[in-house]
Amino acid sequence: MGSREGPCWGWGCCAPGPVLLLSLLWAAPSALLGEETRQVSLEVVSDWGGPPENLLHIRAVGTNSTLHYVWGTVGPPAVLLVATDTPHSVLSVNWSLLLSSEPYGGLTVLPKDSIQFSSALVFTRLFEFDGTNASDTAAQPPGRPYPPYSLAEFSWSNVSGSVDPATLSATFQGHPTGDPTGAFANGSLAFRVQAFPRSGRPAQPPRLLHTADTCQLEVALSGASPRGNRSLFGLEVATLGPGPACPSLQGQHSIDDEYAPAVFQLDQLLWGSLPSGFVQWRPVAFSQKQGGRESALPCRASPPYPTLAYLLSQSPIVRAFFGSQNNFCAFNLTFGTPTGPGYWDQHYLSWSALLGVGAPPVDALSPLVLGIMVVALGAPALLLLAGGLFLLLGPKGYSEYQRIN
Ligand SMILES: *[C@@H]1O[C@H](CO)[C@@H](O)[C@H](O)[C@H]1NC(C)=O
Ligand SMILES: *[C@@H]1O[C@H](CO)[C@@H](O)[C@H](O)[C@H]1NC(C)=O
Ligand SMILES: *[C@@H]1O[C@H](CO)[C@@H](O)[C@H](O)[C@H]1NC(C)=O
Ligand SMILES: *[C@@H]1O[C@H](CO)[C@@H](O)[C@H](O)[C@H]1NC(C)=O
Ligand SMILES: *[C@@H]1O[C@H](CO)[C@@H](O)[C@H](O)[C@H]1NC(C)=O
Ligand SMILES: *[C@@H]1O[C@H](CO)[C@@H](O)[C@H](O)[C@H]1NC(C)=O
Ligand SMILES: *[C@@H]1O[C@H](CO)[C@@H](O)[C@H](O)[C@H]1NC(C)=O
Repeated sequence: MGSREGPCWGWGCCAPGPVLLLSLLWAAPSALLGEETRQVSLEVVSDWGGPPENLLHIRAVGTNSTLHYVWGTVGPPAVLLVATDTPHSVLSVNWSLLLSSEPYGGLTVLPKDSIQFSSALVFTRLFEFDGTNASDTAAQPPGRPYPPYSLAEFSWSNVSGSVDPATLSATFQGHPTGDPTGAFANGSLAFRVQAFPRSGRPAQPPRLLHTADTCQLEVALSGASPRGNRSLFGLEVATLGPGPACPSLQGQHSIDDEYAPAVFQLDQLLWGSLPSGFVQWRPVAFSQKQGGRESALPCRASPPYPTLAYLLSQSPIVRAFFGSQNNFCAFNLTFGTPTGPGYWDQHYLSWSALLGVGAPPVDALSPLVLGIMVVALGAPALLLLAGGLFLLLGPKGYSEYQRIN
């Protein structure tokens, strides 16, 4: 199946044209103005007396809006994103309803008429492909598929132990409930989520620019035994939005900058028009914890297609909020190529994305690079100006030639 337009992923493969550079230069000042802060809190919502049904509520309150991110592993890992136009909206959870066979109403954000936008992502399956004989690195799927791991059939550790109020982060760590081959005996799949009180950029690649309106997800597979010598992995993601249309997948040029030392594409999933939601990521994954150039692998995304709900693992969290709505879309992410770095290096793979509402953050050039460009573009302009002045005011001699009759 056709993936994104162009083979433009990886490190330094697409140089920005002058128009791009100029438009970035133009965009830089306005991007610097977008400084908004939010009061962010993380709360694990417990089902008193039950087993650990992990539900993490991230509430980000601004002056006149509240964002609710509800992450959970009741069913496959899922997140609900609800944006409201009041600083006072709250999440209400009815566990008996949420865990019933008809969960609709088990999760609500009140008051209901304050909701401006809502969407959901569900991580349904982990794929593994045998890349040994794959010659066409762009082929989809990138090799013979092994039976996928259904993430609905994972068991997840108690998220309470991982909540870190200092970094506003928490981790859901899981492994298959039944693991006959022991592939996950020493391994896990982890979903680390992090919220932010203001905009900034983490130290770890891919160094996505975040704002107070966004929440970051890092998915990491580590220590699991691959089923082949050259195993490639993939992730199936289902989406649900406010309308029946699938979110659109867009590739944007990003910039070569000290923040991301290569020109990258920035991929994003957008739901309709504003106020809307987005998922944004650089098409790169890493095969080492300390991600860097040497461990970067391309990440390909297939465009989202409408998918029948019954083909996907059902998420009680999503059904508790949206009801039995059926306009799911799904897309696949695949990581790496049979050549180049891969999971086989260190039995490690990580990929990050940002989720949010409003306009997706736009990379601005760092002040250092901006300074260099001003100097670089400025010097020829000064020379031109000086040349022009010289011609205009130039050697006094010209005007002194008088016609001699
Ligand atoms: C989860 O961990 C928290 C604290 O780390 C603990 O209070 C709680 O009882 C645990 N929940 C379950 C169901 O084990
Ligand atoms: C939010 O509040 C600010 C300041 O109080 C105001 O300028 C802005 O228009 C408000 N935005 C919305 C969407 O109501
Ligand atoms: C939860 O939902 C059930 C079923 O609708 C209802 O009977 C119960 O009162 C609700 N519990 C709370 C705390 O609202
Ligand atoms: C890979 O290719 C070799 C030689 O062509 C063949 O013997 C082997 O069965 C292939 N393996 C797979 C997994 O297709
Ligand atoms: C898991 O780790 C233990 C101890 O490090 C090791 O002996 C065992 O072989 C590992 N199992 C797998 C499946 O990698
Ligand atoms: C994997 O590598 C090992 C050792 O390099 C080799 O013995 C084995 O045949 C390989 N397996 C496959 C399926 O290629
Ligand atoms: C994702 O990939 C798997 C395995 O190649 C395939 O069965 C499935 O249909 C794909 N899903 C989408 C939405 O492309």
